[in-house]
Amino acid sequence: MNDPTFKTMGQQAGRRSWAEPWKIKMVEPIHLTSREERETALVDGGYNTFLVRSEDVYIDLLTDSGTSAMSDRQWAGIMLGDEAYAGSRNFYHLEEAVQTYYGYRFMVPTHQGRGAEHLISQVVIKPGQYVPGNMYFTTTRLHQELAGGKFVDVIIEEAHNPASLHPFKGDVDLDKLEALFVEVGAENVAYVSLAGTVNMAGGQPVSMGNVRALRALCDRYGVLIYLDATRMVENAFFIQQREEGYAEKSVAEILLEFCSYTDGAWMSAKKDNLVNIGGWLAVNDPDLFDALRNMVVIYEGLHTYGGMAGRDMEALAIGIFEGVQDDHVRSRVGQVLYLGDLLIDWEIPIVRPVGGHGIFLDAKGFYPHIPQGQFPAQTLAAELYLESGVRGMERGIVSAGRDPATGDHRHPALELMRLAIPRRVYTQAHMDVVAEAVKAAYDARETTRGLKMVYEPAYLRFFQARFERIPKTNEKGA
Ligand code: F0G
Repeated sequence: MNDPTFKTMGQQAGRRSWAEPWKIKMVEPIHLTSREERETALVDGGYNTFLVRSEDVYIDLLTDSGTSAMSDRQWAGIMLGDEAYAGSRNFYHLEEAVQTYYGYRFMVPTHQGRGAEHLISQVVIKPGQYVPGNMYFTTTRLHQELAGGKFVDVIIEEAHNPASLHPFKGDVDLDKLEALFVEVGAENVAYVSLAGTVNMAGGQPVSMGNVRALRALCDRYGVLIYLDATRMVENAFFIQQREEGYAEKSVAEILLEFCSYTDGAWMSAKKDNLVNIGGWLAVNDPDLFDALRNMVVIYEGLHTYGGMAGRDMEALAIGIFEGVQDDHVRSRVGQVLYLGDLLIDWEIPIVRPVGGHGIFLDAKGFYPHIPQGQFPAQTLAAELYLESGVRGMERGIVSAGRDPATGDHRHPALELMRLAIPRRVYTQAHMDVVAEAVKAAYDARETTRGLKMVYEPAYLRFFQARFERIPKTNEKGA
């Protein structure tokens, strides 16, 4: 096993320490399509895995968002939905779960993460203000920009290097951040947008030491910190495994401490919180809560359901509790590391160390002959699907979109193709199949051609953009 975290886990437990702490009670059939069927599906879908029907997918690693398997307890909770318009008992369960495990005082429910991002961006950001963050996330930055904010990346340099083995590649570069405070004036900074783990960097964690120092720096300048807590449980697990002084603490304790250094958080509950839909926003400042509560009724729903059914809030409250259990997180991240280790053993270029929610293939390393303007990561997602029916997603130049000021493509240093692992859904045998499929795509890399974009939507283009394969130079029309 190549990953230092995995070794530590194995050594500590002295066994296959990531074996799942559950058994399977219900199954959903999946089937492998033929190569011809996949070719048709891919062309129909414009070489965009978001535009392929899930029935045409064998192993679906498009996202870990909303794709978790719920437990028997959560399904039982669904039957206890109190579908009152106002004051549903499930809302109070959810509120208590957020307060208990994340530690914030006030909670506003939303239909999913971007609903919460919309509210906080509109309420907190004044047009023209800067929003520094530890790497962008697509929907987060777009909401910040739509509110008039200017996102500035202040993540450490190591995050942009797929080969760097830094244990906390999600850390904020505090010198870069302070330089920004000095340059633009802290009053022109809306807040620090901190994410743990960092999705676009490969699911990389932020250390407790870094968030503590960030708190001290922000206190000196009077700047607030809001946390994207979407995968913060996985971040807490990495702190437990890698940071001195945390090996004996539970994931739940670490999560609570981390959140205590921030002023509030938004959440896509579709990941760590183990539900298929839902989100929330939580803060400590009563005046801000008041403003958010006024806003939620315009865009999401009443402040005691925020776009969710009562039954969804019940499943979410239970999911929060299940999601922070040490044996759950160990097996969840352990499965991701298992797949990563297989690929590392075969010397396939991936982001290292392996992150919390998926494997990120380094498309520049995969296809050095395909320039970034021909979308290497998009190409890799298409090729892997064609090869095997395994579906991943582009996280490179297509996801990065265009600079709103210049209209030019942004060229991110990381050109990645993500294989996100849903929680509690696939088995170790599925991971073996995925590894073999990636190996087959890798073996065919030299003859693989890039793509050109033939349709580009105005916002979040990766969801709906369409592509065509660039013809061979001796093919007609080339
Ligand atoms: N923040 C992060 C870090 C995310 O990964 C996501 C969604 C969101 C916010 C937005 O939440 O989807 O509930 O509206 N990420 C999904 C993904 C889409 O596949 O990584 P949402």
